[in-house]
Amino acid sequence: MIHKIVLAMLMFTCIAVPAQNREKEKKMLVAYFSHSGNTRTVAAEIARAVGADLFEIVPQKEYPTDYNSLLDVAKREINAGQRPALKNRVTEFDTYDIIFVGSPNWWSTVAPPVATFLTSYDFAGKTIVPFMTHGGGGFGHAITDLKKLCPDARFLDGLSIRDSSAGDCRPTIDKWLQKLNLLK
Ligand SMILES: Cc1cc2nc3c(=O)[nH]c(=O)nc-3n(C[C@H](O)[C@H](O)[C@H](O)COP(=O)(O)O)c2cc1C
Repeated sequence: MIHKIVLAMLMFTCIAVPAQNREKEKKMLVAYFSHSGNTRTVAAEIARAVGADLFEIVPQKEYPTDYNSLLDVAKREINAGQRPALKNRVTEFDTYDIIFVGSPNWWSTVAPPVATFLTSYDFAGKTIVPFMTHGGGGFGHAITDLKKLCPDARFLDGLSIRDSSAGDCRPTIDKWLQKLNLLK
């Protein structure tokens, strides 16, 4: 009986370990939108840490630089469920298995260009790893919203980073990716 249990444990270890390692061999993309640079900084750190390609989501129409006007425009777009047109597309999207998706927290959800991005491709069978920078509100209800936008994707645990910590996020990012077994 004990022999059988030991044998079963050994078999589990042999099967489980290569499966974990295979995660890191998957092709990865870090796609992000950033208005004032914090999410861009975090995106670049993630891409470095996992060896992924980087893709900046750029809306065709620029957002206002004046902060109060930006707050108004963003609020209007979010409340109306708008999907602003984007300037660019990912080439060979189908070849990516794991896609990190980054956004600033705008009114407790993802910025509208990120919603456009997520509804512009087929995410069935893909893995999404969300990340967000914020001014104190964490993810807000962004994770629920992301799952509604991409119901066919698998989601891994995301990371939210305070805007004031974006420039010093390397240790936090490495720890998070280590936990997900994605660190290079
Ligand atoms: C239009 C707008 C709405 C925002 N709404 C929130 C919010 O609801 N909660 C929050 O914690 N931070 C909010 N913020 C702060 C940003 O999420 C934060 O500064 C973020 O790091 C900006 O990212 P970026 O530099 O990549 O654009 C908001 C900022 C803007 C411009």
